[in-house]
Amino acid sequence: MEYRHTPVMLKEIIEYLAPRPGENFIDCTLGGGGYTKAIMDRLGETGKILAIDLDSLAIANAGIKLKAPIENHQLYLAQENFKNLSNIVKKYFSPETKFDGIVFDLGLSSAQLEDRSRGFSFNLADAPLGMNFGEQIEETAENIINNWEIKDLTKIFREYGEEKFAYRITLAIVRERQIERIVTTNQLVKIITEVIPKRFQDKKTHPATKIFQALRLAVNQELDNLRQVLPQAVSLLAPGGKIAVISYHSLEDRIVKQYFREASKDCLCPPIMPTCRCGHTAEIRILTRKVLIPTAEEVLKNPRSRSAKLRVAEKI
Ligand SMILES: C[S@@+](CC[C@H](N)C(=O)[O-])C[C@H]1O[C@@H](n2cnc3c(N)ncnc32)[C@H](O)[C@@H]1O
Repeated sequence: MEYRHTPVMLKEIIEYLAPRPGENFIDCTLGGGGYTKAIMDRLGETGKILAIDLDSLAIANAGIKLKAPIENHQLYLAQENFKNLSNIVKKYFSPETKFDGIVFDLGLSSAQLEDRSRGFSFNLADAPLGMNFGEQIEETAENIINNWEIKDLTKIFREYGEEKFAYRITLAIVRERQIERIVTTNQLVKIITEVIPKRFQDKKTHPATKIFQALRLAVNQELDNLRQVLPQAVSLLAPGGKIAVISYHSLEDRIVKQYFREASKDCLCPPIMPTCRCGHTAEIRILTRKVLIPTAEEVLKNPRSRSAKLRVAEKI
């Protein structure tokens, strides 16, 4: 299958990371290889890039398209979860190696969304309720839908999906699963569209969008992965090295924003403390005081970029 994905905010990523010959980089979310290729093209023969993805399709696609740099030991591919970044890096680089840039482009690629067998989309043919980014993820949307308790289902629909009708949808799911196991995307879409009152169904956005997004975040533990990896990434940077994160969900962006804010402060003691007791010292300097978003032109060309938010910081 052809791997289709248009890289988002590529120009901004390259401008901020400014890769130069001989440098070391990590692309934590390889996808279609858009960033990896653009970075690698600027690293020359002596630079190296490690590209990580949970998805075997992404790894296989890069294996074919970027065969020469792999053979030249310029590019290393790792089918892993980036939450284990420090350990992944140890497999490919010496312990003292530091990196000049680390990039994250969170969420899922167009190729994954459009792959009928994965269950990420409510617009395509009926599919099993999987929704994992790769074989290493054992959780499935089917398990969550059929086995989680009412309070836990409502919580993810409300928090991750910001779904107004979270509780009502949960009750309908629980009613339905007592009659028949919910195993396909169409079964779930039918339940959701029947529960959300017609006058609240937005013509531009499919009524199942928020529930599908919440399930995907829960299946892949996306917020936890992000929380775990940010400090590891910063500790792997060389002084002056940059970390760039593109997120597509407000909760993800909040995690990045808060982490950057804390990591850029010299003291985290509450303001009432007369002197610092925590001993925390700033590790990074924030380069994007205001979050960056794609240009109107990019959104027009690639509507999937519309919710992207980019934050960049530099290691001190
Ligand atoms: C938006 S796509 C990246 C697209 C890429 N920047 C490009 O230009 O083609 C996100 C990718 O990150 C991968 N991914 C998401 N979470 C991951 C994780 N915790 N560990 C490894 N890969 C992950 C997904 O499988 C997907 O391929």
